[in-house]
Amino acid sequence: MSLALLEIKDVKAGYGAAVALQGISLSLRQGERVSLLGANGAGKSSIVNVISGLLPIRSGEVWFQDERIDGRPAHRIVGLGISQVPEGRLIFPKMSVWENLELGATVLDEAEQKSGLLEQVFELFPRLAERRKQMAGTMSGGEQQMLAVGRALMSRPKLILSDEISMGLAPVVVRDIYDTLLRINQEWGVTLLMVEQEAKLALEVADSCHLLESGRIVASGPADEMARSELVRKVYLAED
Ligand SMILES: Nc1ncnc2c1ncn2[C@@H]1O[C@H](COP(=O)(O)OP(=O)(O)O)[C@@H](O)[C@H]1O
Ligand SMILES: [Mg+2]
Repeated sequence: MSLALLEIKDVKAGYGAAVALQGISLSLRQGERVSLLGANGAGKSSIVNVISGLLPIRSGEVWFQDERIDGRPAHRIVGLGISQVPEGRLIFPKMSVWENLELGATVLDEAEQKSGLLEQVFELFPRLAERRKQMAGTMSGGEQQMLAVGRALMSRPKLILSDEISMGLAPVVVRDIYDTLLRINQEWGVTLLMVEQEAKLALEVADSCHLLESGRIVASGPADEMARSELVRKVYLAED
C-alpha cells in the first residue's frame, strides 16, 4: 500500500538507440496539482506517454492506485482513470465537437453516464456547447484545446495528464483554459500532472513542480520555492 495516487519509480525509456528518460522517479497524491517544466526535448512528453501506456519502459515501475500499470495497453489505463490531453491536441478535425467528445467516452458503458458527463463538460466550456455540431477542425486553436480537455474529461478520469496546453495560444485564452482546469481539480477532485514549457505558467498553476533536463529531474519542490530558485529564475524565467 502506498499513499500516492501515481508513483513512478526509476523509469528509463527511449526510442530505438535514443534514451529519453534516464531514471525518473516522481509521485502524485490524490488531488494534487503538479507541473513538469523543461526545455524542448527534456523528456516531458515521454513521461506523459509512459504513464498513458503509449511509450514502453525499459526498466523501473509505474503504479496507479496500488496497481502496477506499466506494460498495460493504453485503453486499459484510460479505463483505470488516467486521461491525457496530448501535445498538439490531436482532435479529429473532420468530426463534430460532439463526436469528438463521444470518442473520449468509449471506456464508459452506460449511455446515461455519458450524457450526464457531456452536460457537465458543456457547462465547463459553454463555447463547446454552442458549437457542438461544428466540425472541430474549423474552430480556433483555443476552442480546439478546450475540446481536447473536454474529451479527456469524458472518460471520467481521476488523473489528467496535460501536455503543453499553452502551445500556440494567446495568453488570455491559455489563462481561461487553466482556470477551467483548476475548477476541474477543485470541484471534481481530479489530480493534475501538467507539462508546461512556459515557466511562469508552470509555477502559477501547480502546487509543486519538477524541473526536467535531458531525461532527468534536476530540481523539485513547492511551486513558490521553485520560483525563487536561482536555476529556475535565471534559465527558465530569464531574470538576471
Ligand atoms: N518518436 C521519437 N523518436 C525518436 N526520438 C524521440 C521521439 N520522440 C521523442 N524523442 C526524443 O526523446 C527525447 C525526449 O523527447 P520528448 O519527451 O518529446 O521531450 P519534450 O516533451 O520535453 O520536448 C528528445 O531527445 C527527443 O528528440
Ligand atoms: Mg513534448
